[in-house]
Amino acid sequence: HRAEPCTVVIFGATGDLTHRKLIPALYNLAAGGDLPPQFKVVGFARRDKADDEFRTELEESNKKNSRQGHDAALWANFGQSIHYHRSEFQDLEGYKALKVLLDEFDKERGAAANRLFYLASAPEFFDEIMLMLRESGLNEGPSGKWARVVCEKPFGKDLKSARHLNEVVSQTFHESDTYRIDHYLGKETAQNIMVMRFANHIFEPLWNNLFIEQVQITCAENLGMEGGRGGYYDTAGALRDMVQNHLFQLLSLVAMEPPTGLGADAVRDEKVKVIRSLRKWRGVDEVAKNVIRAQYTAGSVDGVERVGYRQEDRVNPKSMTESYVALRLFIDTWRWQGVPFYMRVGKQLPKKATEISIHFKQPPQVPFATGELGGSRNVLVFRIQPDEGISLRMMSKLPGVQLLLQPVKMDFRYSTSFGKASPEAYERLLLDAMAGDATLFARRDEVEHAWSFIDEIEHAWHNDGPQPPMCEYPAGSWGPKEADQLLQENNRVWRRL
Ligand code: BG6
Repeated sequence: HRAEPCTVVIFGATGDLTHRKLIPALYNLAAGGDLPPQFKVVGFARRDKADDEFRTELEESNKKNSRQGHDAALWANFGQSIHYHRSEFQDLEGYKALKVLLDEFDKERGAAANRLFYLASAPEFFDEIMLMLRESGLNEGPSGKWARVVCEKPFGKDLKSARHLNEVVSQTFHESDTYRIDHYLGKETAQNIMVMRFANHIFEPLWNNLFIEQVQITCAENLGMEGGRGGYYDTAGALRDMVQNHLFQLLSLVAMEPPTGLGADAVRDEKVKVIRSLRKWRGVDEVAKNVIRAQYTAGSVDGVERVGYRQEDRVNPKSMTESYVALRLFIDTWRWQGVPFYMRVGKQLPKKATEISIHFKQPPQVPFATGELGGSRNVLVFRIQPDEGISLRMMSKLPGVQLLLQPVKMDFRYSTSFGKASPEAYERLLLDAMAGDATLFARRDEVEHAWSFIDEIEHAWHNDGPQPPMCEYPAGSWGPKEADQLLQENNRVWRRL
């Protein structure tokens, strides 16, 4: 990808995301020589701040967060491209002044540059920012140049709000200039799912309900509500925070049909079909049978005592927001008919690990004693993070004079095969947005179909009558027993991580 010359304007520039992810990503792109020439960043936020003060603060956080470490000389150069612009989000004058500033940069450059607006503010400001970009004419690039928008998550909190947001965005930018970010798509290992599936001939013939018995997707986190996150999280919950976006993206990549090409729409057409084919769980009974929600109670993670979810800072002590969810999903297509996709995601679990496991059926007949029940099943595992890699579990003969079988693992690890660290998700995604490649961003219909599935569950959970139970799990455990029962009903267990 070659990024075209541009200025990036970050709304909400004093926030956590800018410090922890966006600036370190841009810095690392600069370090790799991947930024376009005469690149500029403008931080747009409400607090009073001089350019120098802003640069110094960002330098401090870059030292902590940069993937490739911090080089003072490189920063001295990169830091000069950073500017600060103070304005309220709803103040048209502030946007007009921004336009003057951007025009000045263009004069310095001797040519007009493209403009990328990055919405990293709290979502309640998205409407106003869009309106003001339109009113000030900033939604149109300077003559012959583009203006694009990147929207951070959360993109709505249900179908209604997502539709509204899509409406507002579409009045301001064309869909082809709109980049809805899902940082899971920027992860190297997530991108590799398509390559593994479609650049090898050995998997695809088996990738269906004739050979695959079940699929599991786990996204475990060993963090809770650190950093004041409780306030936001308690209005969202695991289903909205992780499933609607990140996990559905992983599911789409695993279950999609081969795309006809790598163009943004060719890929997204196939991903949307997966989400549209999800069998919807409707009403309290169906939801209770297929979706388990839970909150953590006090416990210990990594030897550290943790309070329960309802005791967390900024969480309602009577909260009915889930910090864990497990789901049984079915994709109603020819390829996947009858194959359950189990998903689980939660906070305060024993470790941080995201993986997808494809469990193949038993061979039709096994002429050997396998020792353990189900021992002859092949399992293909995509380790999304950490210890990125892919492994295949197979049966092997145990060396010796007797015929004994034992499962073994063929393992591909990024660290040993490639020996260099992968770029951070935000590096790839920022570069793609600058280069005009929307393949790894969510499309309007994709987001809306995902919300429409999630809404059914949220309605059942929060209806006025009897509701599915809120289960519990101690912090540091692998989730509630009800999530185990969800699989036990069909003689299955969650893969041990
Ligand atoms: C964010 C969620 O989108 O993803 C967080 O809001 C979550 O709750 C985070 O912790 C996980 O991302 P990663 O890249 O650390 O797996």
